[in-house]
Amino acid sequence: MIPMVMAFMMPSQYTLETLPEPTDPGVLIRQVPERMMAVLKFSGSWSEERFQEQTGKLQEWLRKHDVKAMGDPQSRVARKAIIRTCGRCHVGIEKNYLEGVHGKDYLKGSKDVPVCTDCHSEHAILAPTDLSSRVYATKVAQVCSRCHDDERLARQYGLLTSRLKSYSDSYHGTASKFGETRVANCASCHGFHDIRTSVDPKSPINAGNLAKTCGQCHPGAGTNFAKGKIHVVSTATENKSGHVIKIAYIVLIAGLISVFVLFILADLFHRIRSRWSNT
Ligand code: HEC
Ligand code: HEC
Ligand code: HEC
Ligand code: HEC
Ligand code: HEC
Repeated sequence: MIPMVMAFMMPSQYTLETLPEPTDPGVLIRQVPERMMAVLKFSGSWSEERFQEQTGKLQEWLRKHDVKAMGDPQSRVARKAIIRTCGRCHVGIEKNYLEGVHGKDYLKGSKDVPVCTDCHSEHAILAPTDLSSRVYATKVAQVCSRCHDDERLARQYGLLTSRLKSYSDSYHGTASKFGETRVANCASCHGFHDIRTSVDPKSPINAGNLAKTCGQCHPGAGTNFAKGKIHVVSTATENKSGHVIKIAYIVLIAGLISVFVLFILADLFHRIRSRWSNT
């Protein structure tokens, strides 16, 4: 069985009292406040692509008929309620999420951090073990990189970019591209609901916890194992300390050469002058 959450509307002649009792305890019947909705019927099986296509058609119709929708499903406004909506049932996850970097900013009203549906999709929420899930092991990198390699967000939040590139260049990333699910993806090292910055002592990528984080899959990994191997891109912005050392060397060498040149020039000047005054 593929776990997936779906909602159906019951025909209007029923009330909560007159609806038949579901035989499956997983089915929950609830009443939602009355409102006007735009609905489009289409048949055939479900896919993200078809859904997008049909949503487009419905929106086109609304535009043509000059109907203004309040709750655009794709709009950022709807995001506000999502954590609460999913958290009603996924209580522990909501709590973890709100403790992480994304959740803390979400509470402050940020629209740039991911909510449940950004990572799990809005319409086909599948178990992470399902090949079509957006958080299936080999797909996680795409989910995170949509924001973490985004130049605007990087500038605004001072985030390091090239996360996907550095990951793809790594052993883990290369193997993942070939469909290997046992290698580390972003979430194996960073966690997924309570993601924390590296300076947070509770973060799995905090220097003090790296041996344990890598150790999940590399038994016996020590602190040295984890050092300097992750997200390595040798450009100015990424490999800062390497870059600083390189600049320092260039300045030092240039300085030394100038001193030597000055010394030689001064010596030359001195010799010429003394020869001049001797003659
Ligand atoms: C009415 C309660 C309820 C709500 C609301 C709800 N879920 Fe669930 N969800 C469940 C139940 C029950 C399961 C099945 C649990 C299981 O199989 O372990 C489930 C399963 C899942 C799974 C698959 C877990 C797995 O390992 O199989 C994901 C992912 C998920 N939900 C995400 C969400 C997201 C995202 C939202 C909000 C958009 C949400 N859920 C809203 C009750 C709910
Ligand atoms: C930054 C992306 C991200 C966000 C935001 C996120 N998730 Fe997840 N979630 C993941 C990933 C990745 C996994 C799969 C981890 C794995 O491979 O086991 C996962 C796994 C799950 C699972 C199944 C495993 C479990 O821990 O039970 C459920 C249920 C779930 N998420 C619900 C939610 C809900 C509810 C929210 C919002 C409060 C949420 N997620 C927000 C990325 C995210
Ligand atoms: C919808 C966009 C979005 C998605 C998707 C997303 N993030 Fe983020 N992430 C952000 C933003 C914005 C911040 C900055 C929050 C802040 O610093 O206040 C952030 C912060 C972080 C940080 C802390 C960075 C730092 O320098 O302090 C880490 C680590 C992180 N995210 C990892 C992940 C991982 C791993 C995933 C995927 C499982 C992911 N993120 C998915 C937007 C996103
Ligand atoms: C093998 C483990 C591992 C994997 C896989 C991994 N990371 Fe990281 N990541 C780390 C470590 C360790 C650090 C901190 C040291 C560093 O920057 O190299 C880090 C740093 C980061 C930071 C900066 C966080 C901070 O607080 O400074 C972000 C953002 C980030 N990673 C995102 C990602 C994304 C997105 C992916 C997937 C495309 C990913 N990581 C895959 C281990 C990993
Ligand atoms: C989710 C599991 C997982 C995690 C977590 C993980 N790795 Fe890996 N890694 C693998 C697998 C599987 C391979 C394939 C080779 C193997 O079996 O050793 C691999 C291979 C590697 C390789 C290349 C092959 C080698 O042995 O030299 C390096 C380097 C490496 N990992 C470093 C790390 C570091 C550093 C960390 C922690 C920051 C880490 N890994 C975390 C699963 C993981």
